[in-house]
Amino acid sequence: MSSQDRIKELIDLRAKAKLGGGEKRIESQHARGKFTARERIDMLLDEGSFEEYDMFVTHRCQDFGMEKQQFLSDGVITGHGTIDGRVVYVFAQDFTVFGGSLSETFAQKICKLMDQAMKVGAPVIGINDSGGARIQEGVRSLAGYAEIFQRNILASGVIPQISAIFGPCAGGAVYSPALTDFIIMSENSSYMFVTGPKVTKTVTGEDISIEDLGGASIHGTKSGVSHIIAQDEEEGLLLIRKLFSYLPQNNLEDPPVIECKDPIDRMEDALNEIIPENPNLPYDVKDIIHALVDMDEFFEIHRNYAKNIVVGFARFNGMPVGIVANQPDFLAGVLDINASRKAARFVRFCDAFNLPIVTFVDVPGFLPGSHQEYEGIIIHGAKLLFAYGEATVPKVTITLRKSYGGAHDVMSSKQLRGDVNYAWPSAEIAVMGAKGAVEILEGRNAGKIENNEERAKYLAEKEEEYNQKFANPYEAAKYGYIDDVIEPRNSRFRIVRALQTLATKKDSNPPKKHSNIPL
Ligand code: HXC
Repeated sequence: MSSQDRIKELIDLRAKAKLGGGEKRIESQHARGKFTARERIDMLLDEGSFEEYDMFVTHRCQDFGMEKQQFLSDGVITGHGTIDGRVVYVFAQDFTVFGGSLSETFAQKICKLMDQAMKVGAPVIGINDSGGARIQEGVRSLAGYAEIFQRNILASGVIPQISAIFGPCAGGAVYSPALTDFIIMSENSSYMFVTGPKVTKTVTGEDISIEDLGGASIHGTKSGVSHIIAQDEEEGLLLIRKLFSYLPQNNLEDPPVIECKDPIDRMEDALNEIIPENPNLPYDVKDIIHALVDMDEFFEIHRNYAKNIVVGFARFNGMPVGIVANQPDFLAGVLDINASRKAARFVRFCDAFNLPIVTFVDVPGFLPGSHQEYEGIIIHGAKLLFAYGEATVPKVTITLRKSYGGAHDVMSSKQLRGDVNYAWPSAEIAVMGAKGAVEILEGRNAGKIENNEERAKYLAEKEEEYNQKFANPYEAAKYGYIDDVIEPRNSRFRIVRALQTLATKKDSNPPKKHSNIPL
């Protein structure tokens, strides 16, 4: 063979590989409004940056006539490229080849990529679109999944791992994305479940559609399995790029700082008036977040799940941070099971990847009731407490209004190694609200007053007394639990300066194999 022929052979093989399962199946993929694996990678990465590995890999299955059906790349495209110039490893399952189902060699390709990402210290992004285990390969496919799971686990907390779901992701296949840091789903074209509608119907009798069982809207609102919901794949890929911009390459590096074009001493006069006079009235804490962070940019995680707490990424003076905020606009910002789990996972992610945590507190307490107790609010609330207490990254806390009871302790309090704890003058830091406190403390005395008006007057006076004493930040400040009471409009500057000062903070936990967070 002449050298020219050899080059032609290579070019032909590459062209063949790029056709995946063939033109017909690519057309069918497009007809469903979906992109192919390679198209997705091209959209995700910086132009021309993708280096593909293992294009010539084929499966080794000899059963069911599989030896006659060979497709180069074997249903998954793997390699590395860059996002805004930073290296990232990527795999994308190719639905046009055996429905993107996972074979032994398919799994080996992903494992090889993950091993290399770990050595290089670069994030892994996986794009899932697969019919699950390749049925013809039986247990070898199951073993392949487990090999990937093991790598997901070891990589957790070392390199960021992001999963996009742009098609089916069912059965045990869901567990690789579930082990990663963030799951992004596209609306109307992706679904995840451990058991699909047919098996569900057979086993439980429940009749339910794919969308209602495991569609993006379900996982973005009810289960919280998905952190980000995109309208379509294009938006999903853009959101991954955006998310990536806040993250470091690995746990030993700091997140990327960008030039800040927003004055750090920008005064936000409106914040002095933003807390309603009536402490029972809601306001949107996101207005406060947007007003304070650089350029009004807040990348929210879990936007429609457990809306009583808000989490996401932003920057202060160009430095990425994680933001956690109680949301008075939804269930009065109460901490319940879902809010605790949502925020705990986020705090742990930030701590693992060196993102300082800025916490805005306005919390009336934990949600009371048998439902919450039966479902284990004790354990779930403890997750958030544990996450904050264990975190060693810089922690800046601003108490905006209520900070009551156990929830006060949980929300990055001084005693949980909060580094800088500020409060606005509207802060109320107490064991509970005045009404509840007076009912408990004065119930007996009030009961003795027979005249209704007089009893109401008595209780109102006691509430006022309690408010005078506790419904302010100064009682806590007196003990040093609050470092300073600040003017709301100056909060941006105070947060930036706190973060700058804390940039060199060092803290650690006692040596141990690992902690035992209440799961
Ligand atoms: C081999 C598969 C496959 C699979 C799909 N295909 N799933 N091949 N193994 N798991 C092939 C089909 O034969 C078909 O080949 C092509 O992919 C496209 O599939 P269609 O069925 O035509 O597509 P669609 O109608 O869109 O349906 C997609 C689907 C369906 C819903 C994913 O294919 C499906 O139900 N597949 C089986 C899913 C499943 O039960 N997987 C095992 C789950 S258990 P041709 O040649 O016609 O293009 C599991 C355990 C993992 O995954 C455990 C890990 C611990």
